[in-house]
Amino acid sequence: MKNKLYFIGYGNMAEAIYQRIDKKLFGKIFLIEKNSERRVYINEKNYKKTQVLKELNGIKFNNSDIVLLAVKPNQIKSVCEEINSLILGKKDIPIIISIAAGVTTTAIKNFIINNLTNLQNDIDIFRAMPNLCARDGEAITGLYGKSKQINKSNLTTIISKIFKSIGEILWVKKESDLDIVTAISGSGPAYIFYFIDTMIKSAVELGLDKKNAKKLVIQTVIGSGKAGISIDNFAEQISKVASKGGTTEAAINLLNKKNLDVIFTQAIKAAYSKSKEISLP
Ligand SMILES: NC(=O)c1ccc[n+]([C@@H]2O[C@H](COP(=O)([O-])OP(=O)(O)OC[C@H]3O[C@@H](n4cnc5c(N)ncnc54)[C@H](OP(=O)(O)O)[C@@H]3O)[C@@H](O)[C@H]2O)c1
Repeated sequence: MKNKLYFIGYGNMAEAIYQRIDKKLFGKIFLIEKNSERRVYINEKNYKKTQVLKELNGIKFNNSDIVLLAVKPNQIKSVCEEINSLILGKKDIPIIISIAAGVTTTAIKNFIINNLTNLQNDIDIFRAMPNLCARDGEAITGLYGKSKQINKSNLTTIISKIFKSIGEILWVKKESDLDIVTAISGSGPAYIFYFIDTMIKSAVELGLDKKNAKKLVIQTVIGSGKAGISIDNFAEQISKVASKGGTTEAAINLLNKKNLDVIFTQAIKAAYSKSKEISLP
C-alpha cells in the first residue's frame, strides 16, 4: 500500500516541494492549511489526487502515513498537539518530517507523545533543512533521522525521494550537524545574494546599466557554481585565475589585505551559534 502524505501548512516551502514531488509515490496527498486566503489560492489550482483541508480534526492516521510539518517554528507545538489528539494507539502514529528550523526531534517527540508515554518508542521523527532554491529544484536539503521500526526500513528512501524533488540531499549522522547545514546552505543563498548585490552595485557605479550588470553577475555566479563541481582545490584555482600583475590579483590582494576570509568565517560562525541557541529544546 502506498503511503499517504500530509502537508501541514502550505506556505512557500510546502508549495515548492508539492509542485515538484512525484505524486505517483503516494496513495493520496492532503494539504492542511488553516489560512483561508491561502486555501482559496490552493483550490483555484485544482490539484489532482489532492485533498485540501483547513485542519487535521477528523483525520484517522495510520502508521504508514507521512506528515510533513511545514509551518513556522513557533507554530510547531500547536500542530503537534493537534496530532497528539488524534493518536489513540500504536497504529495511529504517523511518520513525522519537520522542516522547521531549530525545532529538535526531541522537542517534537515531547509535543506529540506528551501524555502518551507508553508510545515513546513507536514514533519516527525526521528533520529536513532545505533552502530557498527549492522552488527552482536547485536546493540542497540536510536530512536527519533514523527509522526505529523494521517495517519502515524503506522510509529513508521515500524521504530521500521527497527532498530530491527539490534538488540535492545530504543525510547527516548527528542532529547537531543540522546547525552546520543551517549556517552553510540554509542561510547560504543570502550570503551569495549579498555578493551578487555588491557586484551589481559596483558594476553600476563603474558605468553599466543595472540590467546588463545583473546579466554579467548572475551568469558569472551560475558558471562559477557549475565549474566548482569539478574543482577540488579552490585556493589553487584562484591563483591560476589571478595571474601576476593582473586584474584579478589586484582584487584578491585587496580582499586578503582586508581579511575578508576572516570576516566571512566569523559571519558563518555567528549563523551557526544562532542556530544552536534557538535549537535548545
Ligand atoms: N522558506 C524557506 O526558504 C525555508 C528554508 C528552510 C526551512 N524553512 C522552514 O519551513 C517552514 C515553513 O516556512 P514557510 O516560509 O513555507 O512558511 P509560511 O509561508 O509561513 O507557511 C506556513 C503556512 O502554514 C499555515 N499554518 C500555520 N499553522 C497551521 C496549522 N496549525 N495548520 C495548518 N496550517 C497552518 C500558515 O498560516 P498563517 O500564515 O495563517 O499562520 C502558513 O500559510 C518554517 O518552519 C521554516 O523554518 C523554510
